[in-house]
Amino acid sequence: MAVSPAFAALEPQRLSALPSPCYVIDEGQLLKNAQCLGALAERTGCRVLLAQKAFSNYDFYPLLAQYLAGTEASGLFEARLGKEEMPGGEVHVFCAAYREEEFQELLEYADHIVFNSPAQLAQFGPRAKAAGKEVGLRINPQHSTQEGHAIYDPCAPGSRLGVTREVWDQQMTPELMALLDGLHFHTLCEQDSDDLASTLQAVEQRFGDVLVQMKWLNMGGGHHITRPGYDLPRLEACIRHAQEVWGVTVYLEPGEAVALNAGYLVSQVLDLVENAGVRIAILDTSAACHMPDVLEMPYQPPIYHAVAGGEGDHVYRLAGPTCLAGDVVGDYAFDQPLHIGDTVLFGDMAIYTTCKNNTFNGMPLPDIWRLTPQGHTEQLTRFGYRDFKMRLGREKE
Ligand SMILES: Cc1ncc(COP(=O)(O)O)c(C=O)c1O
Repeated sequence: MAVSPAFAALEPQRLSALPSPCYVIDEGQLLKNAQCLGALAERTGCRVLLAQKAFSNYDFYPLLAQYLAGTEASGLFEARLGKEEMPGGEVHVFCAAYREEEFQELLEYADHIVFNSPAQLAQFGPRAKAAGKEVGLRINPQHSTQEGHAIYDPCAPGSRLGVTREVWDQQMTPELMALLDGLHFHTLCEQDSDDLASTLQAVEQRFGDVLVQMKWLNMGGGHHITRPGYDLPRLEACIRHAQEVWGVTVYLEPGEAVALNAGYLVSQVLDLVENAGVRIAILDTSAACHMPDVLEMPYQPPIYHAVAGGEGDHVYRLAGPTCLAGDVVGDYAFDQPLHIGDTVLFGDMAIYTTCKNNTFNGMPLPDIWRLTPQGHTEQLTRFGYRDFKMRLGREKE
């Protein structure tokens, strides 16, 4: 059975003594990704940030800081985390709408603040500028490159994300223009650089006249740079084009690409049941709680020694132990029959997992472990009942 790229770097016996369920962050793979991004920055002069919404396991920030220029945040807490845990790195923030009561504190952490509308720029921009911050505005190039995926398409008709040229022309005054240091767009999700190239053409067509007045252009995330087969030369051509035509510093803020294939979720079969000829393995991990993107994206994660789909002698539907009927990861064909107590190892579990999981049904949070390049494992967290209870009410003395 062909090994998925999600397990290419793994010697699975390294994980055999770990408790189930648990997340494992593969530092060796993380390092390879970071080196790839760092080399891109060196070759092109662009600056690459970690989008913390995808991966914010800060024990690994010292490693990433050697290759990345800083962090990107979606609001106050991520900005603070970036400032605290990657000191010396730049902190960039984009939020669809900032809150008055948080803005003053945000100024303590952020270096770049990107607004989503001329109204928010007018409300907060002068204060950001007076505090010495770089100020940006998110544009919407109205160029969809993802078919059938509106939830992940900031360019979908009616999207709230980014200023269209029409709104720009109606609402941007010379005073607002004078506040701007740069523009930001984020339109991609797990895409190759051909989609960036066509997006950049749309940006040029709609906002080229504005960009010549800017210091920087942030091209957002969604660039699957560290995926095997990604077209790096075309990405570099896009970056150089922006540098040459508009004279801007280029920022990229990938999340997935930083920690792609750099994590596993170890789980165990608790029970095997059958219904109408469907064999179902109930695991000690939950799609709804521990890998919510499986249901939200939706997608089917890779599993060690199994292939997604319903072909073969040993096909099982993998499901969680919660009450949600749809807490199902998907159907997989295994090499061997599954037994109660068997380990099931999910791949590509470092991104949008530990930063997005929850304790629905009172499900415990799986602990997070580090797998070093030398093959040693180290426990990073000790989650327990308190992590479930503290989110629900008053803490007793
Ligand atoms: C503004 C912004 N920047 C960066 C990212 C990171 O994207 P990805 O993890 O797909 O690279 C996102 C993801 O939604 C985003 O909204």
